[in-house]
Amino acid sequence: MSFKRKDLLSLEELSGEEINYILTLSESFKEVLSRPIKKVPTLRGKTLVNLFFEPSTRTRTSFEIAGKRLSADIINISGSTSSIVKGESLIDTGKTIEALNADIIVIRHSLPGAAHRLAHTINASVINAGDGSHEHPTQGLLDIFTIKENKKNFEGLNVCIVGDIRHSRVARSNIWGLTKLGANITIVAPPTLLPPGIEYLGKGIKIAYKLEDCIEDIDVLYILRIQLERQKGFFIPSIREYSRLFGINKNKLKRAKKDLIIMHPGPINREIEISSEIADSKHSLILDQVSNGIAVRMAILYLLAGGTADADFN
Ligand code: CP
Repeated sequence: MSFKRKDLLSLEELSGEEINYILTLSESFKEVLSRPIKKVPTLRGKTLVNLFFEPSTRTRTSFEIAGKRLSADIINISGSTSSIVKGESLIDTGKTIEALNADIIVIRHSLPGAAHRLAHTINASVINAGDGSHEHPTQGLLDIFTIKENKKNFEGLNVCIVGDIRHSRVARSNIWGLTKLGANITIVAPPTLLPPGIEYLGKGIKIAYKLEDCIEDIDVLYILRIQLERQKGFFIPSIREYSRLFGINKNKLKRAKKDLIIMHPGPINREIEISSEIADSKHSLILDQVSNGIAVRMAILYLLAGGTADADFN
């Protein structure tokens, strides 16, 4: 197959075949990153703009490194230091960046649909780096890549996503992507942090209100950050109460499988949703996720620039 998209906006819109295509190409880029000279000339002459209206460490840096490894020119623009603060609209900002010859714009914005709106207005490629609580497709892809490295197959794999589902774009992208590849998803959250209808996003999605009810069957435990900055309603009685009931610690994993893997998109709130003992344990792949983000984002940048999976990077 080939990847014919101008933009990467969500995992909802990708087929299982397209996701597998990106995963295969990401393996090639991971090999490139293991070489003494971790750079290929693939995007020489192309310009990548990181346009971030919300804070980011992992995603922005990872796109910057991915672009540099592909020899692209990189510009970073933060919302707070751009002309947005003088009243310029998102669309006018996007058109201005395109007029400056950007080929790919990576956007993070607090409003769901912001990346789609920009993508439908300009000719440059747009990558959604997180739009409010809607989707974070490149995080979903790097998570799925990391699961594949460790568990090989998705068919019948039991993935449990625990935490603040209501505000989580990462949960939505993972649910769309993993169910398309055949994984079973169990969502564990307080009822107030569960958006209505979440179980209808894909096949094989179950809901539980206690990790203890399903821990014995789980292969992958994906822990979400409690999004303190988005808790505009009173969704949880207190952080202490949330941590006691839903925070993951050694005690809650007593009956877990020996080869359980623990994942988290970061940034982590230690001793709130995850104890340090678990975050730093041999089961934790949190830093592998971060590292894999570079190869996966290289694959995405390369495909949006018109590359194919059978390319030779020697
Ligand atoms: N996982 C993630 O999106 O992290 P950042 O907010 O640091 O980019």
